[in-house]
Amino acid sequence: MPAIVVVGTQWGDEGKGKIVDFLTAKAHFVVRFQGGNNAGHTLVINQKKYILHLIPSGIFHPQTVCVIGNGVVVDPAVLISEIENLKNAGVEITPKKLKISERAHAIMPYHKALDLAREAKAKKNKIGTTGRGIGPCYEDKVARRGFRLIDLTRPKYFKERLKTILEEKNFFLQYLSAEPLDYKEICEKYLEFGKYLKPYLTDVSSLLWEGFKKNKNILFEGAQGTYLDIDYGTYPYVTSSNTLAGNACCGSGLGPTFIKEVIGIVKAYTTRVGEGPFPTELKDEIGEYLREKGGEYGSTTGRPRRCGWLDLVMVKFAIKLNGITSLALTKLDVLSGLSKIKLCVVYRIGKKILETFPTTLEDFSKIEPVYEEFPGWEENLEGIEDLNKLPKEAKEYIKTIESYLGVPISIISTGPGRENCLILRDNFFH
Ligand code: IMP
Repeated sequence: MPAIVVVGTQWGDEGKGKIVDFLTAKAHFVVRFQGGNNAGHTLVINQKKYILHLIPSGIFHPQTVCVIGNGVVVDPAVLISEIENLKNAGVEITPKKLKISERAHAIMPYHKALDLAREAKAKKNKIGTTGRGIGPCYEDKVARRGFRLIDLTRPKYFKERLKTILEEKNFFLQYLSAEPLDYKEICEKYLEFGKYLKPYLTDVSSLLWEGFKKNKNILFEGAQGTYLDIDYGTYPYVTSSNTLAGNACCGSGLGPTFIKEVIGIVKAYTTRVGEGPFPTELKDEIGEYLREKGGEYGSTTGRPRRCGWLDLVMVKFAIKLNGITSLALTKLDVLSGLSKIKLCVVYRIGKKILETFPTTLEDFSKIEPVYEEFPGWEENLEGIEDLNKLPKEAKEYIKTIESYLGVPISIISTGPGRENCLILRDNFFH
């Protein structure tokens, strides 16, 4: 049975949640493998809106086991309130349905405090993080001074280690003009979290391996997007994990030979939240139109997203970086009503044409996008279920994207609801 990875090809917020939700109908396991509650997936089911930050969106499908892999950083308070909120909304959540890696690292209160204090001190040089403590938690993981979720269930070990770690953290917090944190309070809170989460903790690697041997379908749900990747994103304006498909393996404990397909999600235009380069950004009324029509406000922080034209140079490189085998094009409906639509096909530095995505901020500051221009369409696309019924201008736009990228588009999303989807291929899982 194939394992499939879904990743964003831009700066996140490509609409992965909806595509994952569609694919989950046939998945036995849906697995998060990186990031934390910096992510936010918005789903509309029976006209009701749900925003999930940590729990995979597969939670709404009764047959699916939702898995949080070792590569995720987990804020226990957020996870617990997400579990409780879903339970209150009538969604069944049991330790059979939700499995969390005992190796996943815990976001501690000082991670969040440091994230906020550093951003405040950096002023105009800030990254524009979500302020959820993601970066500081990954730093501690790599520096070997983190807490794994299993550690919250071992009071003696936890208490001893926290003492020395917190001493150092409080020193830095005070240097950054933030309040020091109380040892006793953290101990009590986090050991309580440990008790609550214990029944959900497991060895995810063995779980997935067993599932695989029993021919179960496994779906990996990437968070953020390709260009927020710590290595290949627009560094330093990135998140602190590898968001690329390859990390599905390390972040879950399942080896690379099991992955048969990678689906790249491409929004029909581009957005980004936070600071950093954005070659096709529109700081005009068209950018405003896309933001309002597309509801482009962060589902985690509510910040307005920066909007711009679709950048095929980025997406083409994302195809290589992730080994993408097919694409899902989302939010095509948002483009309805524009008289002209542009697609960036290459960049230019002076007279030189550049077909690759730059590495340095200096190069980003020099490049100019080169566009192909298309006539727009007026028709509302919501509810169209047949590719042939799309306006001819929309078909032309899709055809150009596909032929430029050389990878087939297998799903086109034409509206926010589960039902607003054109499925051009339906054999992802058997
Ligand atoms: P962090 O992940 O909170 O450290 O933020 C680093 C950068 O990644 C900031 O520009 C955030 O806005 C961005 N970011 C993090 N998570 C997401 C996401 O899920 N969608 C879009 N941008 C994100």
